[in-house]
Amino acid sequence: MKPIAFIRASGSHLPPRVVDNHELSQSLDTSHEWIVRRTGIVKRHIAENHDTTSGLATIAAQKALDNAKISAHDIDLVVLATSSPDHGFPATAARVQAELGISKGTAFDVQAACAGFIFALQAANNMIRLGQASRALVIGSEIFSRLVDWQDRSTCILFGDGAGAVVLDSEYVEDTSFPSLKRGIVECTTRVDGTGYHKLFARSGLGDLHANSDIHKHGVFMNGASIFKAASSLMAEGVSSLINKHQIHIQDIDILIPHQANLRIITSMASSVGIPEKNIVVTVDKHANTSAASIPLAIDHAFNQKQLKKGQNVIITALGGGIAWGSALIKT
Ligand code: ACO
Repeated sequence: MKPIAFIRASGSHLPPRVVDNHELSQSLDTSHEWIVRRTGIVKRHIAENHDTTSGLATIAAQKALDNAKISAHDIDLVVLATSSPDHGFPATAARVQAELGISKGTAFDVQAACAGFIFALQAANNMIRLGQASRALVIGSEIFSRLVDWQDRSTCILFGDGAGAVVLDSEYVEDTSFPSLKRGIVECTTRVDGTGYHKLFARSGLGDLHANSDIHKHGVFMNGASIFKAASSLMAEGVSSLINKHQIHIQDIDILIPHQANLRIITSMASSVGIPEKNIVVTVDKHANTSAASIPLAIDHAFNQKQLKKGQNVIITALGGGIAWGSALIKT
């Protein structure tokens, strides 16, 4: 018998303040029509000054624990994906662990920009499969509104704030292969191509040459067209390679949850893998791009809408700065 990890429940939290495209167009040379046509985004949630990335994460994680009907004391691993941590150190996961009253195990952050949740899921899944943890919280939490330059219309309109979390539980099974697995994370794959580092990055960190200058102190820098192409093709490639490896057909996938960056990226990727629109979870219209929080927010939304149910074959896929990307095949 070997341990495997399965998603027991999810939770999410969005800061209550909603900023729609009409509000943005009052302070920026943009329009609701342009943003919807080029991105599919209608509105986004924006954190208040008193909000923290750990605070959003703690609320989402507590909701996931409540939905899983387990106590924080049963959690022995917290993995948190974020590009907007509370501090340079310690890990934001440590703060969330303390806030939740978790008194055992370990906690750490993962940074892979918009693909962060899949990297975090991979780490937690591997630790559970190695017997190093038994119950994990995997969280994506971001306050991207503090990273973007609100004068830069080509990037600031794309992002929003929020947090999502899943509780990973474990069980022992004879056969860990798909489709024998009744439920669980079948496989998580991640990739990085660091030669794409400057295609998408946020302001300088303390270790950069520009740390003490005014250059790169604000904003997100993005080669939009190049990221668009990479996201559409590499997320599609990730889905196809999981399907091929596990010898299933795209028709066997009940639900696809892609990173929510841009509706045009989602539809282009979906049409190249041949999955019908009704099988794709879309939240980008309501949440915009919440980076590492986008997939767990979409998972929780889909569970709440009953689009995602127990016993389904699900693929999640994401791409972000790095360039980092990853996909996972999950039986819910
Ligand atoms: N409102 C109005 N006009 C705008 C805006 C805006 N908010 N932003 C740019 N424009 C203008 C540009 O100035 C340009 O004007 P010009 O033709 O007079 O020079 C025109 O619109 C077209 O600009 P493009 O950058 O070519 O617009 P494009 O159609 O490529 O859309 C976008 C830009 C939406 C950013 C697109 O490139 C994209 O979605 N890229 C993917 C990037 C992404 O989603 N990044 C998120 C992080 S990475 C990730 O999560 C995968």
